[in-house]
Amino acid sequence: MSQPSATEWWRTAVIYQIYPRSFSDSNGDGVGDLPGITKRLPALAELGIDAVWLSPFFRSPQKDAGYDVSDYCDVDPLFGTLADFDELLQTAHGFGLKVIVDMVPNHTSDQHPWFQAALAAGENSPERDRYMFRNGKGKGGATPPNNWESVFGGSMWNRVARPDGTPGQWYLHIFDSSQPDLNWENPWVREQFERILRFWLDRGADGFRVDVAHGMIKKHGLPNYTPPAEAASMGGATDLAPTMVDPQPIAEPPYWGQPGVHEIWRDWHRVLAEYEGDRVLCAEAWVDPLEKVAKWVRPDEMNQAFNFAFMFTAWRGPALRRVIKESIKAFSGVGAPSTWVLSNHDVVRHASRLALRHDSPQGAGIGPKSPGKPDRAVGLRRARAATSLMLALPGSAYLYQGEELGLPEDIELPDSARQDPTWFRTKGEKYGRDGCRVPIPWEAGEPAFGFSASGKSWLPQPSDWGAYARASQAGKPGSTLELYRAALQLRRRYGLASARLEWLRGFGSAVVAFRVAGVTVISNLGPKSVDLPDAEILLASETIVDRVLPRDTTVWLGS
Ligand code: NOJ
Repeated sequence: MSQPSATEWWRTAVIYQIYPRSFSDSNGDGVGDLPGITKRLPALAELGIDAVWLSPFFRSPQKDAGYDVSDYCDVDPLFGTLADFDELLQTAHGFGLKVIVDMVPNHTSDQHPWFQAALAAGENSPERDRYMFRNGKGKGGATPPNNWESVFGGSMWNRVARPDGTPGQWYLHIFDSSQPDLNWENPWVREQFERILRFWLDRGADGFRVDVAHGMIKKHGLPNYTPPAEAASMGGATDLAPTMVDPQPIAEPPYWGQPGVHEIWRDWHRVLAEYEGDRVLCAEAWVDPLEKVAKWVRPDEMNQAFNFAFMFTAWRGPALRRVIKESIKAFSGVGAPSTWVLSNHDVVRHASRLALRHDSPQGAGIGPKSPGKPDRAVGLRRARAATSLMLALPGSAYLYQGEELGLPEDIELPDSARQDPTWFRTKGEKYGRDGCRVPIPWEAGEPAFGFSASGKSWLPQPSDWGAYARASQAGKPGSTLELYRAALQLRRRYGLASARLEWLRGFGSAVVAFRVAGVTVISNLGPKSVDLPDAEILLASETIVDRVLPRDTTVWLGS
């Protein structure tokens, strides 16, 4: 039985998200796979991270890139085999890297045997009670049970046919119709997932990122709900749309953040506590405000929750200071570390987002017809400054593959290549998330920039991505890769992640400045240059001339 202590590795860890289909392809089919990841692990060990989180690689029809699982205890042949997973895990552990698996408990694939059994068993059966089946309303039950709208667009309900072909019940799907929601009020579902968690823990997984952890319990009675105009917006640029400057609170419909979820986390916490080695549970919880998110990481529940409030904060001094203060207060109030994150596989990459000149609601993406393309140079400069700020903050930080290369969002992805269900369900009204999922470049001169020896790539890579290739940046002073490497090394050397942050005043409202473990961190987000105090420059997101800190630049100073 592991004893809780303030030294658990995840409290200070830098966790690197691998999106398997876009990381490294070993068999030439154009889709990344587990052996591809294993082969590239040395590059991640060199980067200086502590853990990897693997987005889903389970058996799946891949309707939502693996977030539609048809067998939780097997690897999809697209990604390899269980033996490949074991090898990946062993190799990662050999490098001192932990491995976090993405658990998807809110919904299964419609191809999962449980759902197929539910369809076959018919109305009022125990099999149907594992999912959210309901009768429709109105004449012949032809109207969906309520007005809820899917996150990916369209109704959240889909109607099934009876064995005789006549229309039958409706089932709930928060996401795509191929992703039916499970009924977490049913003890049978809870038992199945405890078994699934143990399957991966027994194999040596170091924990789980929990998908849609905020959606698993729905409000009783499933009341109608009409969302406000747009929920979370992509707080990015400095001087534009009002919602970016002052992000709207993330709305809370009757299917998000219901109190019943806490009981599930307590059960899962008990399961993980039976295992050695501080296994971790990290919640994907899109709830607001931060005090509410903090409830998910009370000592007997999850360990971490993604800090989406930080991610969506506009690139403005006052807003950033506020969110950092509130995060530290909320999470430390329950004895948990704050997490920090700027990019993942669901949002516009921060090297583009931070230069957006228009509002872009979360999940909408940006594409060829979006207004006002973000300026690449401005975006990259802000991304480097933002990451340099983030990696100095106490707590745990999440990185998304490719951000260490300074990769922008692929905005020019052709419509014909798009695969995100959001794109299809909104009939092209929303571009969706493909632009941040394009396979990453490794070596400039190789086919598919080293992603795949065959040159294939499930989403086409922009022709100018050779300039971002890891090999081209390695060892090159000033490159984004070397900036990340240096920041990670210094973060570890000075123990920044476990220290107390002390705010520094007097630099003006556009400057975020603090001291942590003897290191002074100054980020200048405004147009006015800042004179730097006379101290050793440990890290700078841009070249510093004459001890002056220009706009969109972060420095770390020694004493
Ligand atoms: C959140 C995941 O991050 C996203 O990629 C996925 O589409 C939804 N959950 C549904 O599983």
